[in-house]
Amino acid sequence: MPPFTKSLFMAATGALAFSGTALAQGFPSKPITLIVPFAAGGPSDVIGRLVGEHMSRTLGQQVVVENVAGAGGTAGAQRLATSTADGHTVLIHHLALKAAPALYNNLRYDTATAFEPLGMINTGPMVVTGKMGLSPTTASEFFAFAKTQGDKLTMAHAGNGSNSHLCIILMNQAAGSKPTQVAYRGTGPAMNDLVAGQVDALCDQSTSAIPQIQGNKVKAYAVTSRQRLDIIKDVPTARESGTAIDMTVWHGLYAPKGTPAEALGKLSNALQAAMKDEAINARFASFGTTAFPEAQRTPAAHKAAFEAEIAKWAKAIKDAGVATGAAN
Ligand code: MLT
Repeated sequence: MPPFTKSLFMAATGALAFSGTALAQGFPSKPITLIVPFAAGGPSDVIGRLVGEHMSRTLGQQVVVENVAGAGGTAGAQRLATSTADGHTVLIHHLALKAAPALYNNLRYDTATAFEPLGMINTGPMVVTGKMGLSPTTASEFFAFAKTQGDKLTMAHAGNGSNSHLCIILMNQAAGSKPTQVAYRGTGPAMNDLVAGQVDALCDQSTSAIPQIQGNKVKAYAVTSRQRLDIIKDVPTARESGTAIDMTVWHGLYAPKGTPAEALGKLSNALQAAMKDEAINARFASFGTTAFPEAQRTPAAHKAAFEAEIAKWAKAIKDAGVATGAAN
């Protein structure tokens, strides 16, 4: 090879080798936006910030939380579905993502195909809570009171299809209640109003409810798991009190469909690293919530659970006769 051609060849192969390395090390090349589809201060926000902070250490880039609240979590889901699929935007979401297709008739994304599941995060129950001044003192008194009060009882939730909304639907089925529902952009502000006595009751994730219960800011009536929670052992299960509300909820992490495999792999590994962290697991325990075991945190296990829940909630919502409407 003539010297000139040879040096060109070496420069070209060198450049190729360099760009290969740059590509391999390319993600993430800038801060990552973590969309939280509910207001700041609620359970999705708390879990998202904990996990995101740890992921930023593994990924070497900041993970910046953006609260895109509204329409029962569908506004945030839509933001992810329409974002650039390069791994720099991810979403934490829960049951509401899977319930939305059965509840909203104008979603601008296809829930079944718009997302890449990256891994399941945590699972825990809901807790039925009331404002301090509410007269019932036990779970069975509360459910009987809810029935007799009819629409005089006000219950907050985080929008159609949110966990706190679905909990009211299950409660109404089990207790024969029909409270007036007050929608917020997340249970962060809903819980603030419960503490201030602006609404009567709220069924929220243990993550948000436990600190308020422990601070004597709200009354705890019942947990919706089959077993009591160790951290609030004196609070009975709804079933124990004769009202069969069975509800455990979980968060997962998602990227938009079409995100390159390299980015998916790095995001998923960073999530796994966060979930092994002792400090994070201790915080979860203090909120009455638990990290999924490692095998269930893989993207494949998450995808299977995600698809199963879309089908499960479509049926449950149809059976409950809840009307569909527009996401706005
Ligand atoms: C929130 O973070 O506000 C909750 O996850 C909303 C809910 O689903 O109840």
